[in-house]
Amino acid sequence: MELPSSSLGTSLIILAMCSSCVSVSLEQSSSSYPFPDGFLFGTASSSYQFEGAILADGKGLSNWDTFTHGAGHISDGSNGDIAVDHYHLYMEDIALMENLGVNSFRFSISWARILPQGRFGDVNMAGVHHYSKVIDALLATGIQPFVALTHYDVPQELEERYGAWLSTKILKDFGYYADICFKYFGNRVKHWVTFNEPNVMAIRGYRSGIYPPSRCSGSFGNCTKGNSVKEPLVAAHNMILSHAAAVNIYRNVYQKEQGGSIGIIMNSIWYEPYSNTAEDKLAAERAQSFFLNWFLDPILHGEYPKEMRHVLGSLLPSFSKEDLKKMRQGLDFIGINQYTSFYSKDCIYSKCKSGAPGVSPAEGLALRTPIRNGEYIGEPTSVDWIYVYPQGMENTVTFIKDRYNNTPMFICENGLGIVENPSSSTIDFRNDVKRVEYMSTYLESLANAIRKGADVRGYFSWSLLDNFEWLDGYTVRFGLHHVDFATLKRTPRLSADWYKEFILNHTKHACSI
Ligand SMILES: *[C@@H]1O[C@H](CO)[C@@H](O)[C@H](O)[C@H]1NC(C)=O
Ligand SMILES: *[C@@H]1O[C@H](CO)[C@@H](O)[C@H](O)[C@H]1NC(C)=O
Repeated sequence: MELPSSSLGTSLIILAMCSSCVSVSLEQSSSSYPFPDGFLFGTASSSYQFEGAILADGKGLSNWDTFTHGAGHISDGSNGDIAVDHYHLYMEDIALMENLGVNSFRFSISWARILPQGRFGDVNMAGVHHYSKVIDALLATGIQPFVALTHYDVPQELEERYGAWLSTKILKDFGYYADICFKYFGNRVKHWVTFNEPNVMAIRGYRSGIYPPSRCSGSFGNCTKGNSVKEPLVAAHNMILSHAAAVNIYRNVYQKEQGGSIGIIMNSIWYEPYSNTAEDKLAAERAQSFFLNWFLDPILHGEYPKEMRHVLGSLLPSFSKEDLKKMRQGLDFIGINQYTSFYSKDCIYSKCKSGAPGVSPAEGLALRTPIRNGEYIGEPTSVDWIYVYPQGMENTVTFIKDRYNNTPMFICENGLGIVENPSSSTIDFRNDVKRVEYMSTYLESLANAIRKGADVRGYFSWSLLDNFEWLDGYTVRFGLHHVDFATLKRTPRLSADWYKEFILNHTKHACSI
């Protein structure tokens, strides 16, 4: 199903209706508004990082609840039991969004809130009621919900019963859960996401083992169980099939009546070849295939990328005829989380240090490094994986546009984390100049991709608020709003004011009374 496309007709009518706007000439507006009509400007969040309320209203435990309560996983020893208590403070947070002027909010549903025991127990109607209230409150404010079914979290029950993503049993559970969400919320939710960053889930859960379920082997990490070569491939395969299961339910039962769209969100890294040699160019392509195309190729082209097939051979699971039938019409849009870029260096024809990032066959035999001849690809930041390389945004979007036939895209996350400085004064924590520079240059790069024809329909800033940043706990802050984690008080930063003005500057307003 096609997403609604922009309509010049509508904007003409709005301009004509509105005497105070008549002075805006259409020519001027088309050049100064690279973002098409109906573009979603939003902020993003996820259930585990925001909600807290770990056991409220019948919620079951998720894999992340269990994981963070195990010793030694989170750098500051914290967990998401309370997080920023968005579960209880959502009305306050919607007011912040209203003030920003965003027209969409990206959040995820906690699977364990809806189905504390997966399909082995009842639907928790209190959880359903909660999200229903959030959705209504957003819509009453003119903010469209943009909803992910899972953002790293799965009911712990499914982990314990059958190993979650390692078992094909998860397909049935994911489909069952998706069906319930479409049934209760689909009359009001027009953008559905099956998975947020399944590539990161597979790599960190099953190769390095630094995320739950802490599985890895050999030199890939320090785990007591797992197989870092095979299991990420199996987990990813089951995620792809689970995506297809949910999409099929949506298409067959709900989409026609509800009129929404469904997609997947991938974490993206832009890989620049380390040098101009053909070998390094191929290495950059391999790196991309082993990270991004790994999921998007099967979903959109019905097979794993050729680089993966060549390197991995029979290690790579295969799709049956029946699977491929279910995978047809695999999605309506591609969500992209874009923050950073790296160089990629060949390790097939040249020798790379074993154990270095990317060099194993399981990772694609391409060394990932931010540094070349002593210089970083982009300015390093206080967050060890973010290098400021705005061009990576245009390059990523253009790459996806070319490879996947300009499928509609949404930038579902982009933003800058800043490591907490405990001694910072009130003035300091508000004054996030670096974040403003980061957002402004990345948005300009995105605008360039759109001017050159990329069908991008939205941008979500990560994040509305400081929140629980996974392994970094509360030590890395990504918020447009500062959160005092002791009192949960929210305070807008400079970046919030800046984003508000940016949205105003780049949206055609019928009337601004
Ligand atoms: C691996 O994990 C064990 C148990 O958690 C720990 O005692 C050990 O120090 C770790 N080793 C390394 C190299 O991190
Ligand atoms: C908004 O537009 C005004 C007027 O052109 C400009 O001075 C200001 O810098 C812009 N702000 C942002 C955030 O784009």
